[in-house]
Amino acid sequence: MRLGFARSEDPNDGRVGATPETVATLTGRGLEVEVEAGAGTAAGHSDEDYTEAGAQIVDGDKLFARAETLVVVGPPTIERLATIAEGAALIGFLRPVHALDLARVLAERRVTALAVELIPRISKAQSMDALSSQAGVAGYKAVLMAANRMDKLFPLSMTAAGTVRPARVVVLGVGVAGLQAIATAKRLGATVKANDVRAAAAGEVESLGADFIHIPGVTDQAEGAYAKKLGEELTRAQHEALAPHIAQADAVICTAQIPGRAAPILLTAEMVERMPAGSVVVDLAAEDGGNCDLTDPDGPTDHGGVRIIPAPQLARSLPKEASALYARNIAHLLARIVTDEGELDVDADAELTGFLLARDGEVLHAPTAAALAAAGPNDLEAAS
Ligand code: NAI
Repeated sequence: MRLGFARSEDPNDGRVGATPETVATLTGRGLEVEVEAGAGTAAGHSDEDYTEAGAQIVDGDKLFARAETLVVVGPPTIERLATIAEGAALIGFLRPVHALDLARVLAERRVTALAVELIPRISKAQSMDALSSQAGVAGYKAVLMAANRMDKLFPLSMTAAGTVRPARVVVLGVGVAGLQAIATAKRLGATVKANDVRAAAAGEVESLGADFIHIPGVTDQAEGAYAKKLGEELTRAQHEALAPHIAQADAVICTAQIPGRAAPILLTAEMVERMPAGSVVVDLAAEDGGNCDLTDPDGPTDHGGVRIIPAPQLARSLPKEASALYARNIAHLLARIVTDEGELDVDADAELTGFLLARDGEVLHAPTAAALAAAGPNDLEAAS
């Protein structure tokens, strides 16, 4: 199989799906690996590093035209996608439900499209779980961003000039990013509180030494591993429970998301107005609308002295580490779905086939297919 690794087309995203380490593993299995020129530069890998590991360096046009399986980080542009060989496979963060025009072209070109976001959250798929590896990096970085921007020291500090109390951090949403944010804020010496609507999260928060903010009268709102969307009454109860904690917070890290839906609003303008001046909100859910009513996806804003920072896809800001993890996720995935004869077999494991966004001219991911049908051909650009 000829396996291609493309350079990110997003100038703010220097991540790449292969490192010299994973290229050596893949070529060791007899796969022919091509890497787009300059693909690894931002992640600290030169073209020569890849060549030494056994890859060939090619330009983008050649890569797209020749690859039998193509690995990207984010979705390629429609223009670029139109040059992919018909019937080839595409693997990467393909933004199911969001990138509808992409899904339509994938089906038109009969691309076998594997969206890594759809890899099931089961133990045997953990090593391939790119959503988790990137969320962990994002949760860590969100806290550093808050520490950098807020007007307060993180740790307790007892000095001859007096005592500085530790920063108060509230983490909203305790999935992979939220847990990493809690652990990072604790390591920096903050007092940390967190909330989630899944009951299982309470024990995880406490095991990290943070306090769980309970919502009176609200029982477990989980649907499988994910959270349910709360109705109006429960949302009000949640806002009431969070408000006094937010009012004292020096930093709020927002990570609450519900796959395939807009992010829940957990921080209203009124709640932000009660936060101390000089405090900060870092909103990792910004790509899905944000957890804060005041989040502007276009950039940081100031609301009464509180800095509100949209932080979508924050893993992009640490391209070296994030690429190392993503590349290993991809190598593990390929180990599972490429046969010893070098053929792609996406049905190799029935428990994994949920990662198929499109195949044989059909969009298989039901929510994406439904969104496509609802959008109609003329609305696609606006919807994606
Ligand atoms: P996510 O990025 O979809 O959402 C982040 C968090 O926001 C979740 O914990 C969710 O419960 C929470 N949330 C949603 N609505 C909320 C609301 N209104 N208020 C407060 N919190 C809200 O989550 P992520 O990180 O993708 O994890 C989802 C689940 O998958 C978790 O249960 C996690 O433990 C599980 N998981 C399992 C894995 C495995 O078994 N291999 C790997 C990674 C995650």
